[in-house]
Amino acid sequence: MNQPATATHLAQAAAAPSYVTHRKLAQWVAEIARLTKPDRISWCDGSQQEYDRLCNEMVASGTLTRLNLEKRPGCFLARSDPDDVARMEERTFVCPRNREDAGPNNNWVAPDEMRATLAKLFDGCMRGRTLYVIPYSMGPLGSHIAHIGVELTDSPYVVANMKLMTRIGRRVLDVLGTSGYFVPCVHSVGMPLAPGQKDLPWPSNKEHKYIVHFPETREIWSFGSGYGGNALLGKKCLALRIASIMAKEQGWLAEHMLILGIQPPQGEKRYIAAAFPSACGKTNLAMLVPPKALNGWKVTTIGEDIAWIKPGKDGRLYAINPEAGAFGVAPGTSEQTNANCLAAVRTNTIFTNVALTPDGDVWWEGLTKEPPKELIDWQGKPWTPGCGRKAAHPNARFTMHCSQIPSVDPDWENPNGVPISAFLFGGRRATTVPLVTEALDWEHGVYMAATMASETTAAIVGQVGVVRRDPFAMLPFCGYHFGDYFRHWLEIGRSLKQPPRIFGVNWFRLDENGKFLWPGYGENMRVLKWVVERCEGNGGAVDTPLGRMPRYEDMEWRGLDLGRARFAELTKIDPAQWRKEVQEHAELFDKLKARMPKELLALRDRLEQAL
Ligand code: GTP
Ligand code: SPV
Ligand code: MN
Repeated sequence: MNQPATATHLAQAAAAPSYVTHRKLAQWVAEIARLTKPDRISWCDGSQQEYDRLCNEMVASGTLTRLNLEKRPGCFLARSDPDDVARMEERTFVCPRNREDAGPNNNWVAPDEMRATLAKLFDGCMRGRTLYVIPYSMGPLGSHIAHIGVELTDSPYVVANMKLMTRIGRRVLDVLGTSGYFVPCVHSVGMPLAPGQKDLPWPSNKEHKYIVHFPETREIWSFGSGYGGNALLGKKCLALRIASIMAKEQGWLAEHMLILGIQPPQGEKRYIAAAFPSACGKTNLAMLVPPKALNGWKVTTIGEDIAWIKPGKDGRLYAINPEAGAFGVAPGTSEQTNANCLAAVRTNTIFTNVALTPDGDVWWEGLTKEPPKELIDWQGKPWTPGCGRKAAHPNARFTMHCSQIPSVDPDWENPNGVPISAFLFGGRRATTVPLVTEALDWEHGVYMAATMASETTAAIVGQVGVVRRDPFAMLPFCGYHFGDYFRHWLEIGRSLKQPPRIFGVNWFRLDENGKFLWPGYGENMRVLKWVVERCEGNGGAVDTPLGRMPRYEDMEWRGLDLGRARFAELTKIDPAQWRKEVQEHAELFDKLKARMPKELLALRDRLEQAL
């Protein structure tokens, strides 16, 4: 990446604001500017004025549409390119020197080869655009669990989203000081503008997309996509892939988990962290509204996508939400399924790929029973209920700040985190997996999490509805070999005085007519209640080959007429299905066999025998 330094680019770099005292940062920005050759460099201060100015510019350029000022004050709609609507796992790479370190769970290319590819792609890729410098903190500023990244991007949409989802700007540089450590992240939409060339509302690169991580140097390079986890590099790239590697080295956990608080009517408040694959219910569970019959119970939200979890001096695990906002799935969000979320996106929200109503409001499938009579769909085309197309893209999302969530926990920015009492792991499984199972101990819990599977969703580009193993809901996010990751989890558990209890859940089992057996959403409170009672040591349970499960009488049924027969269906262990299941566990372990912990292999054999 040794581009000749032109006088203009050097002059631009020298124009870093006087408050930038971190020499290495200034030098790196200059180096990337020499490579990418933007017309301008803009250091983001993180202020509201800056955000407002960028949004106004994006309205003027056609990237954003301002929504109805009364119905959605401070809200905008963005429509992406139809080819740039979700994370692209096929185009995501983790490139350590040693291929084995990436594991079969990551795409790998030799780092030198990848660097050569990137050097070509990034050369001049920001021509005609502004390079924005976004210093950001994942986690409360100055928290000992937090980490700082700096994203360089040519997308103002990314800047606006990063402002809502992380902590950005001058205050981050203050924490960084003159020599603090930051993770360097470079992002380009990959569409340079020739002089006079008209920009697109959503620039991207149709031909080349790369989301690349270099573990040894902890670098992130992303090219060609402007969407979500491909482009908001603090989220999946730093807070999960790179952070999972740092966590392994440093003895903590970076997980695809929501964090919620539960206050029972009597007794101690507890915190639960729960891992579900993409678009499988983290946001909904994190903001759960208990059913009326259980309204003595209160649920509060710490985070809805990512948890950073560290052992404390007292031998317990403490978790923070490294994010400051949510980039959540819009379709399916309604007053009935997630009232807290709906309230949170009423103001100051960026919507991406939802439908627009004639009066400048938004709509998506599931928001209301009756769709509006006419809409502009996510691609900007006229839409009517019978037209046969979806009005919103199934992976349409909203971006909002966590402070807007009515159920936000008073401790959501506590720099020391909150103590975790239980972990939940859940996939989207139409068959086989019961409603809830408690692991016998930590090791068994790690086995349950390592072997979980889920149907794929619209959150990733590719086939939807395919069951695949998704250990810990981390398949697309673990930055190193899954065998090493399982071992790391086993070791963390051994180091704890009070390891959290571990549970497997499945809200998605279907009946013979293809309908959900479990009502889900707020009713998931009934499962959480049983989990809390187990943590308190007083919930009833029965031993099964899979672990401990509640009997019908062990769960709270006030206000829900589920019936014993349906409960039996929900909790059934079908021997034929489970023989197939343990066979698939063996196939997963075989793929990882170079680094599989033997404890888990032994647990698989034991499960096979028990069945
Ligand atoms: P990412 O942001 O992609 O990581 O996903 P997430 O896990 O936060 O996804 P989210 O909560 O937005 O999941 C949305 C999808 O899950 C929608 O299709 C919802 O209808 C569905 N969903 C959420 N909770 C439940 C539930 O309890 N039962 C059922 N059946 N579906 C649910
Ligand atoms: C996910 O896919 O798990 C997300 C959305 O949370 S994205 O940020 O696009 O990765
Ligand atoms: Mn996610």
